[in-house]
Amino acid sequence: MDFYDELCQAIASDGAKRGVRTSPEEFQKFLSSVKPERSNQPPPANRTPIKPMPPETTLYAPEAETVQVNTTPQTPPPACALPDDWESLRSITLNCQNCPLAATRQNVVFGEGDLRARLMFIGEGPGADEDATGRPFVGAAGQLLDKMIGAMHLAREDVYIANIVKCRPPGNRMPSPEEAAACIGYLKKQIELVQPEVIVLLGGTALSFLLEINGITKYRGRWHNYNNIPVMPTFHPAFLLRKAEAKREAWHDLKLVMAKLGISV
Ligand code: URA
Repeated sequence: MDFYDELCQAIASDGAKRGVRTSPEEFQKFLSSVKPERSNQPPPANRTPIKPMPPETTLYAPEAETVQVNTTPQTPPPACALPDDWESLRSITLNCQNCPLAATRQNVVFGEGDLRARLMFIGEGPGADEDATGRPFVGAAGQLLDKMIGAMHLAREDVYIANIVKCRPPGNRMPSPEEAAACIGYLKKQIELVQPEVIVLLGGTALSFLLEINGITKYRGRWHNYNNIPVMPTFHPAFLLRKAEAKREAWHDLKLVMAKLGISV
């Protein structure tokens, strides 16, 4: 018995319950009127077989014939989902494949310094020297940063140095918002683990991706806040190498940081 036979039987029995009598002839007539013709022909040989849906094809794509969904992991782990111990965090970061920069990097530049530093410097992303060595701020800008740290009566080993993105953007271009979003969780976890008393943001890229405000010239030299940590944005050392007269303003900013940390000038 197929679906239509079942349906007719159900109608007949329902009618009988309600006192409606249907003769066998009437019932057959009704049955043949609702029952579709069933072809005894075999299906045509050239019928396109129904292909199984490939896993990367979306089921519903009103705007496009077929939408290929990138199966590479795109959703980066938020800081809260990352481990609370340095070694696990480092190992996850070093194996990261969250964005296309993974394909062109030589080394992941995790960050380095005192894990209990009072002061943390955050730059933009590794350049060629950093990519080659796996260490942050070791090129020309890094040498100037070392001098800036020295002028604050500190040593590089006293502070923690990290970047917004851990892999070098090709040609030293700015990281894209997608690359920064894919990476920022690692930095946020580093901040959470170090718990610095003060953060210095080096340049506009660090400012815009950590605090989500744009304009280093406008916002430098004033205190901001990240998760209750005072944040001082200042010029990036690479910018200071190109524009030496801006060093005066950068020094002004660093003196505010020294005062906050109780370091006398
Ligand atoms: N510039 C940065 O922003 N970070 C580095 O590590 C090196 C250069």
